[in-house]
Amino acid sequence: MKGRVFTEFFAHVEACHGADMVDDIIEAARLPHHGAYTSTGSYPFQEMVSLVTALTEATGQPLPVVLEAFGTHCFESWVGYAPQYFATSRSLFDVLEGIDQFHETEVRKLYPDAELPSFVPERRDGRTLVLGYRSCKPLAPLALGVIRGAAAHLSQPVALRCEPAEDARGPYTRIHVELLRPAG
Ligand code: HEM
Repeated sequence: MKGRVFTEFFAHVEACHGADMVDDIIEAARLPHHGAYTSTGSYPFQEMVSLVTALTEATGQPLPVVLEAFGTHCFESWVGYAPQYFATSRSLFDVLEGIDQFHETEVRKLYPDAELPSFVPERRDGRTLVLGYRSCKPLAPLALGVIRGAAAHLSQPVALRCEPAEDARGPYTRIHVELLRPAG
């Protein structure tokens, strides 16, 4: 996982719980390098698991709640890299349908060795978009948070729901995105 994700996580924890909490979770996670991450470096995903677990233990918040809030923070921080892609005139569904291509072009320029998830559109109508989320990491709640951040940015509020799914390539998560104010 890219160091950038870890530094974002610390910024998010500091904003929500204060700088002492960042020190506390770094200590509790027993990291080999005491929490020193560089943005473009790559680090074991297990270190993120240890940090997120330490935060759930320190705050009593359930894991999905922690991950989803972090996902929304990520979107708000990342949107500045591509303001034109997230222009408020765009439809949320168009943005989400293009997210794989966005990751593979724009994000790859910044982080050539990033391990990026994939979001494959399965069904779309005026009200609902169904995306198949696949990743080598179990981060569906983080994806929900990023999508919620995008929806808020575009002023297109949504209800989100996940269900486990499987095809010939194996298990994945189906994310249902429902517009609360359908366009037109
Ligand atoms: C609605 C828009 C977006 C969605 C739904 C989304 C979703 C995600 C998710 C769920 C992950 C976690 C990794 C995984 O699941 O395997 C991720 C990773 C990442 N995304 Fe996005 N993302 C979006 C936009 C962006 C933007 C605008 C940037 C701009 C720089 C970005 C950069 C990254 C980076 C750097 C990673 C980390 C890759 C790694 O650790 O190797 N994403 N994205």
